[in-house]
Amino acid sequence: MYNLNDNLQENSKRAENNPQEKYSGMGQAGQGGQTGQRDQGGRRVYMDNSATTPQDYRVTEAMTAFMTETYGNPSSIHQFGRVARTAVEKARGQAAELIGATPAEIVFLSGGTEANNLAIQGVANARANKGRHLITTAVEHHAVLDVMTQLSKKGFELTVLPVDSEGLVNLADVQAAFRPDTILISVMHANNEIGSIQPIAEIGTLARERGVLFHVDAVQSLSKLPISVIDMNIDLLSVSGHKIYGPKGVGALYIRKGVKILPMAYGGGQERNIRPGTENVAGIVGFGEACRLAAEGLGGVFAIERLRDKLLNGIVESIPDVIVNGPLGDLRLCNNVNVCIKFIEGESLLLSLDMQGIAASSGSACTSGSLDPSHVLMAIGLPHEIAHGSLRLTLGKQTTEEDVDYVLEKLPPIVERLRAMSPLCDCEASQL
Ligand SMILES: Cc1ncc(COP(=O)(O)O)c(C=O)c1O
Repeated sequence: MYNLNDNLQENSKRAENNPQEKYSGMGQAGQGGQTGQRDQGGRRVYMDNSATTPQDYRVTEAMTAFMTETYGNPSSIHQFGRVARTAVEKARGQAAELIGATPAEIVFLSGGTEANNLAIQGVANARANKGRHLITTAVEHHAVLDVMTQLSKKGFELTVLPVDSEGLVNLADVQAAFRPDTILISVMHANNEIGSIQPIAEIGTLARERGVLFHVDAVQSLSKLPISVIDMNIDLLSVSGHKIYGPKGVGALYIRKGVKILPMAYGGGQERNIRPGTENVAGIVGFGEACRLAAEGLGGVFAIERLRDKLLNGIVESIPDVIVNGPLGDLRLCNNVNVCIKFIEGESLLLSLDMQGIAASSGSACTSGSLDPSHVLMAIGLPHEIAHGSLRLTLGKQTTEEDVDYVLEKLPPIVERLRAMSPLCDCEASQL
C-alpha cells in the first residue's frame, strides 16, 4: 500500500545524496525529476528562478501534514482548529523574523500581486482625505504599475520616476517628487527583469522625514538580500512564497504597527479584518518554513553570485554584439543575468534553448507571452529592436557549475544559427 510518510522519507534520503533533488527533483531528466517534456539530449537546466523557484523538499515536508491529517480551520475553537492556528502563528513568526518585523505586523495573503494591490489600494483608500498624490518608478512590476494607473483614473495623481541606464532611481529625483499632498511612495527592492537594487534605506529616510508612507515590493529580493523593515524605514512590504523555494499562491504583506489601510475584500475577521477568508494553512506553513530556510541560507548567495558571474562573463566573451542590461557588481541581484543579443528575437531564442532543455525567459515571465517590448528595457533607454532580443537567465540555489557550463556550451551555437537566418544580421560584419 502507498504510504505517504515512507515516500517522504525516501525523497529526503534521495535529496540528501543529490543536492539538485532537494528542490522538487530538479536536475537531469530521467532521475526522478519533474514531469514534463524532455529535451533531446536528456539534460534539463532551469534558469528561470525569478519566474518561480522549485519548492524545497523541507517545505513540502512541513506542508504535508496540513494537506492530509491536520485539516482544522484555524478559526475553530476545537482542537483541530487550535492545531492549525498554532501552525499559522508559527509561520507568522518565521516570516516576521526574516524581515525584522513583529508577528502582529504580518498579514498572509495569496502572493506578491495581492500584497502590492492591498498595500497601494489600501493606503490610497485610507488616506485619500489627507492627499491624492502617489509616487512610483518606471520599472516596477505590473502588480504595482497597473494598480497605480487604475488609481490615477480615479482621481489620484501619479508621479512615475525615471531610471538611469542601469535601471536605478536617482535620489535627487525622489526628493524632488515629494509634494505636500503625497501619501505614498512605492519602490521595488530588486528588479525582476534586470536585477537592479534600489537605494531602499535612503528612500525610506526621505519618506519618513516627510510623513509619506513607503511601500516596498521585495518579492525578488527576499532571501537574497538582507531586509530590515525598521532600519530601512519601510511601512509596507510585499513578499511571495514561490520566489523563495516555498509554495505558489501564498505570500505576505508587512504592515507597520500603527499604519492604517483599508481592506480590498470584506466578509470575515481573519488576518485582523485586513484579509478576510479562511487561511491557506498548508501554504502558510510552507511559506513560514521557506522563510526559516531563507534566514539560514542568506550566506549561500555568494555561491550563486559566483556562478552568475561565470555565466554572464562567459556569454559576453563567447557571443559578439551582446549588451548587458542592469548594473554590474553590488547593485545587481545575485542570481540575475539579463542580456540583449543583437539581431535575434528573444522568442526564437527561448524556443531553441527550450529544445536543448534550458528554461529561460525574455523580459519577465508575465510579459513573455506578449510581443510588446518589456517596459523595463524601454525605461533604461533601449531601442525596440534591441529590447526584442532580450534573454533573462536567473539562477537558484539548486544551480550547479555543470548547469552553467551547459548553457555556455549550447547558447553560442544557437545564437549563431539564429543570426545566420536573421534578415537583421549582417553576419560578416559580426564575424559569425
Ligand atoms: C517584483 C515582483 N513583484 C510581484 C510579483 C508577483 O508575485 P506573485 O507571483 O506572488 O503574485 C512578481 C512575480 O514575478 C515580481 O517579480
